[in-house]
Amino acid sequence: MRTTRPFGIDFGGTGIKGAPVDLGTGDFGAERVRFKTPAESTPAAVAEVFVELLAQFPESDGPVGVTVPGVVRHGVVHSAANIDESWIGTDADRLFTEATGRDVHVVNDADAAGLAEVRYGAAAGRKGVIIVTTLGTGIGSALINDGVLVPNTELGHLEIDGHDAETRAANSAREREDLSWEKWAKRLTKYYRTLELLFSPDLFLVGGGVSKHSEEFLSLIDIQTEIIPATLLNRAGVVGAALYASEAGDS
Ligand code: BGC
Repeated sequence: MRTTRPFGIDFGGTGIKGAPVDLGTGDFGAERVRFKTPAESTPAAVAEVFVELLAQFPESDGPVGVTVPGVVRHGVVHSAANIDESWIGTDADRLFTEATGRDVHVVNDADAAGLAEVRYGAAAGRKGVIIVTTLGTGIGSALINDGVLVPNTELGHLEIDGHDAETRAANSAREREDLSWEKWAKRLTKYYRTLELLFSPDLFLVGGGVSKHSEEFLSLIDIQTEIIPATLLNRAGVVGAALYASEAGDS
């Protein structure tokens, strides 16, 4: 059964944010709460934070969606490029459901952001093949065709010129190497041209924290496909996780 107020949790490297979500509008149903991600961010430590976070919302009883920055298949985490290795092989749906007593569904972070942008954000109402990329510590990707998500595409790990693409083109590479916007845009051009070759998408959407500076670099990316900034910004994870949980609970 579809619930109107599922809860979304965005689990990231520095913060764990959560709020109930109004699926009619894609807005938070109450003010979002943020906790610091524990220094040792093992699944068990993170589960404790989720319990504390959910306790702040005693009225909320719908399903809970949780973003994880790794491959998630049927609730089990299969990769951990930028998180504690102990996540690999963890049945996160089960662990979090047992810890919180709620119906929890875990989803890849970029897939969650993609679902949210296509439903409520920059790509709302757009048909065709849409690739949402999140440029942060890593590069996340969501591949969506006519509103249907193909999960876990992990296009940040394409090998380009012998490098794992995200190590060269993520926002963390720009910061680490102190790249100018122009230099970074060159790397992004190479990255998005590779995606164009592989998928011939109708639209690219660029999310992640740095998308708030999109006017500095988007127009410098020299590709044929339309490329636009995501609009939900730091709401996308929470909203997409909640949306995912409400639909996972339906099946
Ligand atoms: C991970 C992806 C994740 C992305 C963004 C990559 O390193 O492999 O699963 O979506 O970072 O967080």
